[in-house]
Amino acid sequence: MRSPTGASHEADAPPEPVPQGQHTKTAIPSAHPRHACKSIPVVATPENHGGNPKARGFCSSLLGQFDVAHARFVLEHIPNPLQVVRNMARAVRPGGRVILSDDDYDGLRLWPEPPGFSSVWNAYQRTYDRHCNDPIVGRRLVQLLHQADLRPRRNTLVFFGGCAGDPDFEDVVRNIASIVDEAIDDIVATGLSRDAVTAGLDTLIAWSKAPDSAVWFGMSWAEGIRPP
Ligand SMILES: C[S@@+](CC[C@H](N)C(=O)[O-])C[C@H]1O[C@@H](n2cnc3c(N)ncnc32)[C@H](O)[C@@H]1O
Repeated sequence: MRSPTGASHEADAPPEPVPQGQHTKTAIPSAHPRHACKSIPVVATPENHGGNPKARGFCSSLLGQFDVAHARFVLEHIPNPLQVVRNMARAVRPGGRVILSDDDYDGLRLWPEPPGFSSVWNAYQRTYDRHCNDPIVGRRLVQLLHQADLRPRRNTLVFFGGCAGDPDFEDVVRNIASIVDEAIDDIVATGLSRDAVTAGLDTLIAWSKAPDSAVWFGMSWAEGIRPP
């Protein structure tokens, strides 16, 4: 499932870019083990046997070798995000960086409020709960770094909103609408009627044409260091 902010992936670089030195190695949590050893999967998946370093595909010989491990919009899909962050911590060398960026869906603010949309958005968040995932994992990033025995160093929000008059605003709103639309069956399963969801989406699109509409949303971003 995409972030509501996913329309503009170029825009969410950390405040200071990750050094791209010749010897920098990056471990990227991935659900695609066929890419193992190019970007190392440190996420617990059925394919890599729950993150067991002895299991096929984990590249245990590379543990502790990476300068940076980065996960974006992944932890929100994982019932046990701490296990992922612990595996990222093991992937980096002492002094290496673990960078987490993820959503806190409860932080979405639309103003003036489009009537009926907040109940749709609340139901969308409940679909995460129903799958044992956390729709507000973004606010937990620093805590997760600490729990994984990393030293938190920085956090920030990367803005993904927009407003009337912004050339990207239509894309921002369209993206919010599309992630709701793609999750509509799960949303209906939470108890909201399909008609209510459809009406909420129609309202959102109409709302976005107003001259004073604004979306406020930030992606949570945090960095920790593996103690030397
Ligand atoms: C919204 S995409 C983000 C992709 C990419 N990291 C980015 O920032 O554009 C969510 C990613 O989480 C992965 N994912 C979802 N559930 C997963 C799971 N249980 N284990 C590992 N990866 C998972 C998906 O394969 C997908 O690549």
